[in-house]
Amino acid sequence: MYLITGVTGNVGGPVARRLHEKGRHVRALVRAPSRAAGLPSGIELAVGDLNDPDSVSKAVQGVEAVFLMQVGGRTEQTRTVIDVAREAGAPRIVLLSSVGARQLPLETNPIGAALAAREQVLSDSGLGVTYLRPNTFASNALWWREEIRAGKAVDPTGDGQHGVIDPDDIARVALAALTQDGHVGKGYFLTGSEALTSREQVEILAEVTGRAIDFEDVTPHEFAQAAIDWGTPPEQAYMIERLNEVFRAGRAGFVTDDVENITGQAPGTFRAWCERNVDAFR
Ligand SMILES: NC(=O)c1ccc[n+]([C@@H]2O[C@H](COP(=O)([O-])OP(=O)(O)OC[C@H]3O[C@@H](n4cnc5c(N)ncnc54)[C@H](OP(=O)(O)O)[C@@H]3O)[C@@H](O)[C@H]2O)c1
Repeated sequence: MYLITGVTGNVGGPVARRLHEKGRHVRALVRAPSRAAGLPSGIELAVGDLNDPDSVSKAVQGVEAVFLMQVGGRTEQTRTVIDVAREAGAPRIVLLSSVGARQLPLETNPIGAALAAREQVLSDSGLGVTYLRPNTFASNALWWREEIRAGKAVDPTGDGQHGVIDPDDIARVALAALTQDGHVGKGYFLTGSEALTSREQVEILAEVTGRAIDFEDVTPHEFAQAAIDWGTPPEQAYMIERLNEVFRAGRAGFVTDDVENITGQAPGTFRAWCERNVDAFR
């Protein structure tokens, strides 16, 4: 049995489906079962919340490995999972982390610092952990969805490239790490096969959707200020501004061959992700 978190999201869903297709027993931690209605019927649902230790404790019983993705907080959810895992026979953990966990200096990037802190408490826990550190998700393009419908995408990352990765390629690596030996203690930097600027991504989206899309380059500060004007809490906008400075400086503009090394299959392209998801932009 495998416990999968984030099944209504971009990576957890494909992980659960791929495991299920392989005939593995899957239990999905879901906050709202109605949101998981699209999952195959053989997947067991455990209603719970990473912020509710009792629910996570129940969900982890009898599992051999956990796919852990976290949003929010710093290390609280990680510590919860460590505590309940220790009591439940120490299942292996495959962590969805980020390249940001290793992009120094962390002092000026609170999001990267939180990711690194989560990795550290897991590393200190003595549990068997595999660290998946993906680059920018292709699915982040969905953040432009409304803007693209209006004919313009606004972006703060300038000439900084991103080694954009299809979330399904992360899921293929997660599947290997969950089901095969030899991945405990390893950290993988997961990227697609090409590094693209946001402008290049928008050009591809324009070709695939058949729409004319203008691209507006703004600074990370301008972007953060606009987010505050739209209601984002200033503290969160500050963190996003720091992260976008990292992207704008080109720090995410690299590719690795970890996906192919682990799965035997090269990662897909941003264009292929767009073609598969074109309906989301209509
Ligand atoms: N986006 C990127 O470019 C990128 C790059 C590298 C790493 N990452 C990592 O990927 C993860 C997020 O990916 P995403 O933004 O694309 O998110 P996402 O896939 O949209 O997923 C969010 C998921 O988390 C679940 N969730 C949220 N809060 C929860 C809680 N308290 N308890 C249990 N489940 C909870 C949501 O479930 P509900 O249905 O209940 O809301 C949903 O399934 C983060 O860990 C991030 O660090 C992202």
